[in-house]
Amino acid sequence: MTTIAIPPGMPQYDDVPRYDVEAVRADFPILGREVNGHPMVYLDSANTSQKPLQVLDVLRAHYERHNGNVSRSVHTVGTEATEAYEGARAKVAAFINAPSPDEVVFTKNSTEAINLVAYAFSNASVGAGGDPRFRLGPGDEIVISEMEHHSNIVPWQLLCERTGATLRWFPVTDGGRLDESGLEELVNERTKLVSFVHMSNILGTVNATARITERVRQVGALLLLDCSQSVPHLPVDVVDLDADFIAFTGHKMCAPSGIGVLWGRAELLAAMPPVFGGGSMIETVSMSGSTYAPPPARFEAGTPPIAEAVALGAAVDYLTGIGMRAIQWHEKELTAYALDALATVPGLRIFGPTVPVGRGGTISFALDGIHPHDVGQVLDAEGVEVRVGHHCARPVCVRFGVPATTRASFYLYTTTGEVDALVRGLEQVRKVFG
Ligand code: ALA
Repeated sequence: MTTIAIPPGMPQYDDVPRYDVEAVRADFPILGREVNGHPMVYLDSANTSQKPLQVLDVLRAHYERHNGNVSRSVHTVGTEATEAYEGARAKVAAFINAPSPDEVVFTKNSTEAINLVAYAFSNASVGAGGDPRFRLGPGDEIVISEMEHHSNIVPWQLLCERTGATLRWFPVTDGGRLDESGLEELVNERTKLVSFVHMSNILGTVNATARITERVRQVGALLLLDCSQSVPHLPVDVVDLDADFIAFTGHKMCAPSGIGVLWGRAELLAAMPPVFGGGSMIETVSMSGSTYAPPPARFEAGTPPIAEAVALGAAVDYLTGIGMRAIQWHEKELTAYALDALATVPGLRIFGPTVPVGRGGTISFALDGIHPHDVGQVLDAEGVEVRVGHHCARPVCVRFGVPATTRASFYLYTTTGEVDALVRGLEQVRKVFG
């Protein structure tokens, strides 16, 4: 476990949790590599995070010592695998303060988690007997926002096409915040579901949820929050959020790819029809019909990503050991530093909040008339790894009148020295294309 210490020279505020970033970096072997002859500066953690030894070791140990299938073996390794898999579920539940591990459904990623809810609505809407809260038809509305990742847009577009419901959305302000001015009209008695992002993967905006949640409750709709970018970076408490569902993914929080989470309130998961049919999700099967297991098994058909779930549990242990408040604070300081540093780069325009309040450590920008792909290539030549493109949030680019952006994103292991390397890299970009 990482030793947590207040490094010399850092402010010693009593109530601010801190950790030793260099000690954390030593846990991530990949951070020691070079790219194009330079020490790698990894600024693409919103895309996927790097993995510490503590997670890699658990993944390897699982396959070396405990590999068996879950929930269907009486033998020793099968039992060990089942205990590790269910143990990971309990760790994830505690991490987000879920009232019960049974509210945690393992999925492949956030996209699958959101689609699972969308298809549950769909399945409840065909034939008779579905829970009315999940039944959709013409006249019903689903509300999202203009700052969503495609994974929180396309499933609802498809659902509306299937059911005849209407999709509506919150606009985004010039400053990159959610425009809630039309809340009362937008979320109304026709609204069945509101689904929006907790922290934007492109603008970095952290959305305040309380006002929207209150309105959702007033009209009797359901609320889903896409927490893909918030759960890895700040303390998320599902009881405090008062959401009905949240979705997030392991690979952005130090775990492997291939494992994600749908959290849902127990009573709602119990009311949802199954989506994928197969082994493990049934109570009994006969040739004339089947009955289904209670959640979460109802939504986990087939052999799940067992080792990945166990490794997600290890990632939760790792992040908890450092402390989510400490990670949030580190990234807040880093974001403040980066916003100041980027403001010194001539011709640089930031998309999203330009102050480190109500935002996280993901910063999208444009540089003069230089295409983001050119920016990304020159930065890579300098060892600086950023993401360029529309970041699977194309409506945001359309909103701000650009085809793409360059995006730097930070995590618990990012340093101010790496922000300096980014700024130096941007000077190089300007020399090459200026
Ligand atoms: N959603 C991920 C990103 O923002 C893939 O890069």
